Amino acid sequence: MAAECEAIGVVGGGQMGSGIAQLGLVHGLHVYLSDSDPEALARASKSISSSIQRLISKGNLSEAEGSAALQRLHCTSSLEEMNGCDVIIEAIVESEEVKKKLFVELDRIAKAPAILASNTSSISITRLASATKRPAQVIGMHFMNPPPVMKLVEIIRGVNTSDETFLATKALAERFGKTVICSQDYSGFIVNRILMPMINEAFYALFTGVATKEDIDTGMKLGTNHPMGPLELADFIGLDVCLSIMRVLHSGLGGSKYVPCPLLVQYVDAGQLGRKQGLGVYDYR
Ligand code: CAA
Ligand code: NAD
Repeated sequence: MAAECEAIGVVGGGQMGSGIAQLGLVHGLHVYLSDSDPEALARASKSISSSIQRLISKGNLSEAEGSAALQRLHCTSSLEEMNGCDVIIEAIVESEEVKKKLFVELDRIAKAPAILASNTSSISITRLASATKRPAQVIGMHFMNPPPVMKLVEIIRGVNTSDETFLATKALAERFGKTVICSQDYSGFIVNRILMPMINEAFYALFTGVATKEDIDTGMKLGTNHPMGPLELADFIGLDVCLSIMRVLHSGLGGSKYVPCPLLVQYVDAGQLGRKQGLGVYDYR
């Protein structure tokens, strides 16, 4: 990668991709944002504009900085337009198969020195890297939701990730004002290895009638000072994302403690994916 990153690509314009794109823009980068769903791309562009407007109205950005940031946003339906990017960050659906297909495509399109990063919550970076001819330049760059607000980026090196790729990715995360932690490449890394079993346990508590959803969430909010209760947080993350992560933990680490709660499975089967879609454990409509 060039000494100084000037342009990034972000693939996937959902909650995470749009937040990562916003971070790039306000930190002076050109951002090429793409999504396979044109409506999702339009929603991402709108939400980035309104977030940047909020930053201007709160005095965190000047009018000139805000409008320059928006001018650096290039929404595109063609991945080919990312061929000049120094780093391409993938933030699409949490599926190894779908991500691998994308990595094959990105490997073909990206310029030779470019880094291919994945925002995956749980999937093996080594296996994603094996879909490319540049495994030394593939890395996990795991932002927390919402990316503009949360202070952490978890970096995961695959077996073949080079020191140069690691240092450039760390520098990019630090440019975004984030604290970096490093995890070995095991299912769920650090944060979700610990967070998701807690969320899953909250579903078991609800499923087995220990308490109401409100009391479970209030218990963890007031009892342990979490900003959100685990069920509310699951809705915020996306129940589909939580279930995919639990399945990766279960298949990667084994053992009964990672078996997804049947109630979580049922919500996803019913299409209740959480806050992003209006209905999850709670009703946001
Ligand atoms: N984008 C940009 N800014 C946002 C935002 C978003 N989506 N959501 C909130 N903000 C900003 C607000 O503008 C506000 O900024 P100011 O203080 O400058 O005014 C600030 O964040 C606080 O927001 P609110 O006052 O609206 O709401 P809040 O105080 O309730 O905080 C929250 C919202 C930050 C989301 C807080 O509830 C929280 O920290 N929740 C827990 C989030 C969490 O645990 N995230 C990690 C999930 S796990 C993960 O991400 C990994 C994975 O792989 C699943
Ligand atoms: P999301 O459902 O909000 O958005 C995913 C987007 O990817 C959608 O807009 C979808 O149209 C698009 N997409 C799907 N397949 C695609 C493809 N092949 N090419 C281009 N676009 C495609 O999901 P999200 O919550 O933003 O999660 C995205 C990634 O980030 C996942 O890997 C997830 O595990 C990870 N992650 C999520 C969170 C969270 O709290 N939600 C936190 C950290 C990391």
